[in-house]
Amino acid sequence: MNPILRFENITRRFGTFTAVDDVTIDIAKGETFSLLGPSGCGKTTLLRIAAGFDRPDAGRVLLDGNDITDLPPDRRPVNTVFQNYALFPHLNVRDNIAFGPKIAGQDAATVRREVDRMLELVDLTAHAEKRPAMLSGGQKQRVAIARALVNKPQVLLLDEPLAALDLKLRQRLLVDLDAIHDEVGITFIYVTHDQSEAMSISDRIAVMNKGVIEQTGTPVQIYETPRTSFVAAFIGDTNFLDGRIIGAVDDRFSRCAVEDFGTIIIDNDKPVRIGDRIDLSLRPEKLMVSRQRPDAGPMDNAVQGIVEDVIYFGSSTRYWVRCGAWKLCAEVQHRTFLLDETPPVWGDSVWLRWHANDGYLLEQYDALDEDLLTLPED
Ligand SMILES: Nc1ncnc2c1ncn2[C@@H]1O[C@H](COP(=O)(O)OP(=O)(O)O)[C@@H](O)[C@H]1O
Ligand SMILES: [Mg+2]
Repeated sequence: MNPILRFENITRRFGTFTAVDDVTIDIAKGETFSLLGPSGCGKTTLLRIAAGFDRPDAGRVLLDGNDITDLPPDRRPVNTVFQNYALFPHLNVRDNIAFGPKIAGQDAATVRREVDRMLELVDLTAHAEKRPAMLSGGQKQRVAIARALVNKPQVLLLDEPLAALDLKLRQRLLVDLDAIHDEVGITFIYVTHDQSEAMSISDRIAVMNKGVIEQTGTPVQIYETPRTSFVAAFIGDTNFLDGRIIGAVDDRFSRCAVEDFGTIIIDNDKPVRIGDRIDLSLRPEKLMVSRQRPDAGPMDNAVQGIVEDVIYFGSSTRYWVRCGAWKLCAEVQHRTFLLDETPPVWGDSVWLRWHANDGYLLEQYDALDEDLLTLPED
């Protein structure tokens, strides 16, 4: 890849605290790249370093191959959109957007043409003469986006741009942002702590935790093949099982003993040997729930348990099923009219079935902070 922006071994400390720890990321020209992680993991610090508002203690920032680490913000072809809009309250929408080009000394006709184009892009032509106080949160954020894009930056940095908006508006603006990105073709770096936002808008995501990048990949790679327990738990929900390899089924599948649970078949996502300890991530929607013992193929796993919790979500139901020492979460989509069926309830005995290929072996398992685990406690 020939990256438009490269973070190269970036470290930033505040006193003895390391906010960003030896981070290297390559961002391709034209992509929407997200930095995703919980509050305090170092996302904004990294973005501020890209914008030039902050300097790293070690490492370099390269833009199109040139070292810009020491360049002041106004000399970088980079603009930032913040969560709190940061609009000029005394200027109307048009003059807010025109501010950058005017400062840059563009002639009045050019400014007018560019601003008109931006107003159209963010669908605010009808509101051009209004002041920010008269606009909704979503409209304000669209002004902020237009005001950044009118400068024709090579990279647009967006720091939790939707965090102040309610859910429906967030979803709407995500779609708008995606359309704007397609239209202008500028590289977007999108910072968020919201995994569904990152999943829906990104070409690629870097998942951050405590100043470190845990994994970089497409949304599907991150979701289906999480490298670590943190990534598996932060992106969606998952079940973890740990066990020991006790034999090979063939060169692709192994038999694995899980204490107080049974013997399961796993896909060797990475090389394993007999005796190895493994950690498995098993997504709730991969688990099939049935009252009858399922017809299990040779590479299917089937375990019996007791339903301990049920949460109905309308389009789906989640079951927490006690199997020996383990409690697994299964999510069942309602494809047919549910009132015609008798779904399992609390205390029922059910079977869980999944194919060996539907679990994923983690490279690294770390104990997780409690708020990352959505499974109900006993
Ligand atoms: N100027 C600063 N002085 C001291 N600590 C800071 C400063 N800026 C950020 N931090 C700390 O660095 C960590 C990462 O902050 P930040 O990059 O804002 O995280 P995020 O954007 O992911 O929520 C936090 O623990 C924060 O308190
Ligand atoms: Mg932040």
